[in-house]
Amino acid sequence: MSDLAERLPDVAALLAALDQISYLADESLGTALFLAARMGQPILLEGEPGVGKTEAAKALASVLDTPMIRLQCYEGLTSAEALYEWNYPRQLLAIRLAEARGETPREADLFSDEYLLERPLLAALDHPGPRPAVLLIDEVDRGDDEFEAFLFELLAESAVTIPELGTRRAAHPPVVVLTSNRTRDLHDALKRRCLYHWIDYPNVPRVAAIIRRRVPGASERLADQVARGVAGLRELDLAKPPGVAEAISWATALGVLGAADLDPVTAERTAGAVLKYAEDLRAVRRAGFAALVGQDG
Ligand SMILES: Nc1ncnc2c1ncn2[C@@H]1O[C@H](COP(=O)(O)OP(=O)(O)O)[C@@H](O)[C@H]1O
Ligand SMILES: [Mg+2]
Repeated sequence: MSDLAERLPDVAALLAALDQISYLADESLGTALFLAARMGQPILLEGEPGVGKTEAAKALASVLDTPMIRLQCYEGLTSAEALYEWNYPRQLLAIRLAEARGETPREADLFSDEYLLERPLLAALDHPGPRPAVLLIDEVDRGDDEFEAFLFELLAESAVTIPELGTRRAAHPPVVVLTSNRTRDLHDALKRRCLYHWIDYPNVPRVAAIIRRRVPGASERLADQVARGVAGLRELDLAKPPGVAEAISWATALGVLGAADLDPVTAERTAGAVLKYAEDLRAVRRAGFAALVGQDG
């Protein structure tokens, strides 16, 4: 029996545990993750890049003290690469060795667990416990249509049939977290299977709090200035608006330089920590770094 319910008695306990490992979630995200874990239903986290979707899955696994198994989706990802493959080189070697002994290898021996390469989805289903693994299916919007359809079936069954080995049913069905940057809409069928949560870019006080947690030595003042600076950048019409990761990186750069304040000159010098496109840099220069970080409160 899994002690999931004892570990996660309520939303407040989850929020406190996430806070302890420096993942700051609001009540609504905490509730969504709590329900996913306790109901055993997959959750789809959508939001812009850098709002903490991937990190949410890592943090949840850490709180549950269970492995996180990650499947990164990309165009052309096939079910074989996601689920399992046969270890052909080892099978060939086994055939050669058997032949050298004058034996004929049996097919059933060659297509056994010994020659099975588990990929993330099968590894998550096969996880021995005691608690379910957290299966992160990251950036599912980057995969193809066919892959989504395949995922849908797998999520519905928590089982998979390997023709040579039979059906493998999860003893501890994984807590499934899917993420999407919403570069395209996902299928209704997949969405219907999942709980859903949209993660907004956090507000200035929360970004400042995240910086203070994640950047050792960052002063309250500097964290606040960086959080406001990033919020200002996000109001400009940039190709790649900075996310939480960039805010952390900016504060880290300032710390390494020993800067006490984010003044316009320092902001421009360190802009490479937060802006990654030449046209974005030009746009901010045009608007003026002074306008961005000038008014100090
Ligand atoms: N709520 C949060 N609490 C603490 N750190 C966060 C939070 N959200 C984002 N981060 C930080 O920002 C970084 C980027 O988040 P990530 O999960 O990679 O974004 P996404 O997957 O949405 O693109 C993480 O490595 C983490 O350090
Ligand atoms: Mg991510």
